[in-house]
Amino acid sequence: MVAIAGAQQVDLTGQVVDDSIGHKFVGGFGGQTDFLRGAALCPDGRPIVALRSTAADGSSRIVTELAAGSGIVASRGDVHYVVTEYGTATLRGRSIRERALELVQIAHPDHRADLLAVAKARRWVPVYEKLSAAPPRSPAGLAPVKLVLQKEPYVLRPLQPSDERRMQEFFYSHTQETIESRYGYMMSRMSRERAYELVNVDQTRDLALVILEVQGPREVLHAVGRYYLDADGKSAEVAFVTRETKRRCGMARILFDRLRAEAKKRGLAALHAQVAPENTAMLGLFQSYPHKLSRIPGTTAVHVDMPLAP
Ligand SMILES: CC(C)(COP(=O)(O)OP(=O)(O)OC[C@H]1O[C@@H](n2cnc3c(N)ncnc32)[C@H](O)[C@@H]1OP(=O)(O)O)[C@@H](O)C(=O)NCCC(=O)NCCS
Repeated sequence: MVAIAGAQQVDLTGQVVDDSIGHKFVGGFGGQTDFLRGAALCPDGRPIVALRSTAADGSSRIVTELAAGSGIVASRGDVHYVVTEYGTATLRGRSIRERALELVQIAHPDHRADLLAVAKARRWVPVYEKLSAAPPRSPAGLAPVKLVLQKEPYVLRPLQPSDERRMQEFFYSHTQETIESRYGYMMSRMSRERAYELVNVDQTRDLALVILEVQGPREVLHAVGRYYLDADGKSAEVAFVTRETKRRCGMARILFDRLRAEAKKRGLAALHAQVAPENTAMLGLFQSYPHKLSRIPGTTAVHVDMPLAP
């Protein structure tokens, strides 16, 4: 069951007001509560609240404080998705911190900084959190895509700031060997700040994509593929990591194909990587595309240059 309801305001925790603006009643709430709760109780149900990000006077309808006199017609437990013209905030199963970040990202850009500042002042989000340089769902053409790999459903989408906790969980699932192969040294922990740096990507410049599994309210990262644009803006360095239990399902190849296609579209001439010679998995993937191998002087690593045909 899918229920879509309108709203006057949604606060940063996901509480919904619809029948009044403060003390002024603008209507009733009809079947909204029943439909949203019905969809929330339904297996695979989708209770969705959709609203414009701003009111007629330009004020934000995603708010830090519901107007005095507002009555809540849908609780934060009943709404799984909030949609504005800037994207979708996924709230089900999320912490207050994640909810606030998701909702800030779909607020009108003129109001995002103020909303984030209040969330920080309340210590709902850490002080180092900054506004994503790119729009939340990032450049057109990078919308989430459903995949089926070895009969299992997955979603491919851009990495986003609210993936911070998922990135930490993903890191702590890795073996030491995986960590050394991916990061080039033995990192012992993935701090929140480090995870934040990794997920807070300007997707209009660099590109970071993930493949994840939706487990009820949870999303579990299984693979990350990214590129970092070089200073000359003509090429980029790629890096990949796939969860050990999901290897050889084709995740890295799908991510690489997507990164290559987007890099080409953006006019890049080549992608490149530094790989340890014993990393047969990574080299195996790269070698199935046009490439040139060379030694990196003074190291044991191999440089793989992969031109992108125009
Ligand atoms: C390298 C890595 C990302 C590959 O991920 P993956 O999702 O298992 O890769 P895929 O299933 O998409 O395989 C793509 C291709 O890579 C090659 N490959 C993958 N695993 C391989 C292995 N164990 N041995 C040889 N080739 C392998 C194959 O050519 C494969 O194509 P094929 O299945 O059609 O033969 C994964 O092994 C990993 O996370 N390694 C640790 C981190 C790392 O080394 N990162 C690289 C830093 S740049």
